[in-house]
Amino acid sequence: MANFADWQLGIYFAGLGGEKPAYPVAYPELEARAAAAMRERDPDGAALYDYVAGGAGDEFTQAANQTAFQRWGLAPRMLAGAAERDLSVELFGRTYPTPLFMAPIGVLGVMDPEGHGDLEGARAAAQTGVPFVGSTLMQDPMEDVAGELGETPGFYQLYMPNDHELAESLVRRAEAAGYQGIVVTLDTWTLGWRPRDLMHASMPQLAGRCLANYFTDPVFRSRLEKSPEEDPGTATITWAMTFGNPTMGWDDLAWLRALTDLPLLLKGICHPDDVRRARDAGVDGIYCSNHGGRQAASAPALDFLPAVVEAAEGMPVLFDSGVRNGVDVVKALALGATAVGIGRPYGWGVALGGSVGATWVLQCLLAEADLTMGLNGYRTIADLGREAIVRVG
Ligand SMILES: Cc1cc2nc3c(=O)[nH]c(=O)nc-3n(C[C@H](O)[C@H](O)[C@H](O)COP(=O)(O)O)c2cc1C
Repeated sequence: MANFADWQLGIYFAGLGGEKPAYPVAYPELEARAAAAMRERDPDGAALYDYVAGGAGDEFTQAANQTAFQRWGLAPRMLAGAAERDLSVELFGRTYPTPLFMAPIGVLGVMDPEGHGDLEGARAAAQTGVPFVGSTLMQDPMEDVAGELGETPGFYQLYMPNDHELAESLVRRAEAAGYQGIVVTLDTWTLGWRPRDLMHASMPQLAGRCLANYFTDPVFRSRLEKSPEEDPGTATITWAMTFGNPTMGWDDLAWLRALTDLPLLLKGICHPDDVRRARDAGVDGIYCSNHGGRQAASAPALDFLPAVVEAAEGMPVLFDSGVRNGVDVVKALALGATAVGIGRPYGWGVALGGSVGATWVLQCLLAEADLTMGLNGYRTIADLGREAIVRVG
C-alpha cells in the first residue's frame, strides 16, 4: 500500500530533471506567495488578502492558535512496525481515506484567480478525497459546487439566517444537492472586531460578493421586489438584514434538528458544557473551532479540545484553527479530534492555483502528517492515544 509520504519522492525525482516545486511546501512562504499574487491581480487585492489573513482584535488569538501546537510534543516509538500507515477515519458511517477536511471559507470564491474558488475547492476534494465544507457564502451556487465533488462527500455550512423559511430552503437545497451533513456555525451571529477590515472599510459580502446561495434562492428572492440581477444593491442590503442572528438559541437548534435527517454538526463549540447541551439536543457532531481567531478574540481552541472530546463521549469531534502543517494535524488527532480542518492554508492554495494549488497544499499536509506518524512509530490513528502526546515546555 502506498503511503501519503511517498508523494515527496516525486518532488526529489522531478528535481533530478531540474524541476523545482511549483508551490511552496512550508506555510510562511505559501502565505507570502499568495499575498503577492492577490495584491498583484486585483486593485482590491490588499483588502481581500487582509480579510483572509487578519482576525479579531490585536490578532493575538489567531497567533496563539498556532503557538498552541508548540506546547505539545509527540512521543516517538521505535521499531514499532509503522512502515505502512493507514490514515483513514470513520465519520457518520463512512470511511474517509484521510483525516483532513477543508473548512468553510466564505470568500473562497473570490480568492481564486478565475473567481470560482468554491468550484475549485470542490475539485480539490474530488482529486484528494479530502471532504470540502462549502460555506453559505459562495460565489457559485451550492448545486454547481456539489457537481464538482466527484466521489468525495461534501458538507454544507449553514449560517442560520434570521428567517426560518430561508434556512429551511437552504437546508433542503443542500439535501437535494447531495451534501452529507449540515455544519451550523454558531460563533458568527454578528461580525467580530476586525481592525484590518475596518481600516480598509471593506467587507467582501457588502460589495455583493459570495452571495450566490442567497441570490439563487427562491425564498430569498421572494423577499425582494426586484431580482438581484435587476437591483443587486437592494438584494445585498436584504442579505445583510437577514444574516445577523443575535437571538438565535437552543430552540432554533431543536427546530433545525427536526428539519433534517442529515448529520448535524455545531461549529464553534469549545466549552464542555456546550458540548453536553449539544449532545442532549441530538446533534451528531461537535466542531471545536475559534473561527481561526476571527470572531471571539482570546478564546483558545486547541486548549479546549481534550475537554471537548471528553464531554462528547464518543460523538465525533472535528477540530480546526491554527493547523499549519502535518505535525499539527497529528497532534490534533492525538488530542482526540476525529478529523482535522484546514482553513487558510488551502485557501492560499486556491489563491495561487485554484484546485491545483489547493491539492498541492493538501498533499503536503498529508505527506507530512503521514511521515510524522511513521517516524514516530504510529501506524494508524487509533494507535495515536493520549499517551502519544506530551505537554512540553
Ligand atoms: C477568510 C475566511 C473566511 C471564513 N469564512 C467562514 C465561513 O463562511 N463559515 C465558517 O463557518 N467559517 C468560516 N471561516 C472559518 C474557517 O472555517 C475555519 O474555522 C478557520 O479558517 C480555521 O482557522 P485557520 O484559518 O487558522 O486554519 C473563515 C475563515 C477565513 C480565514
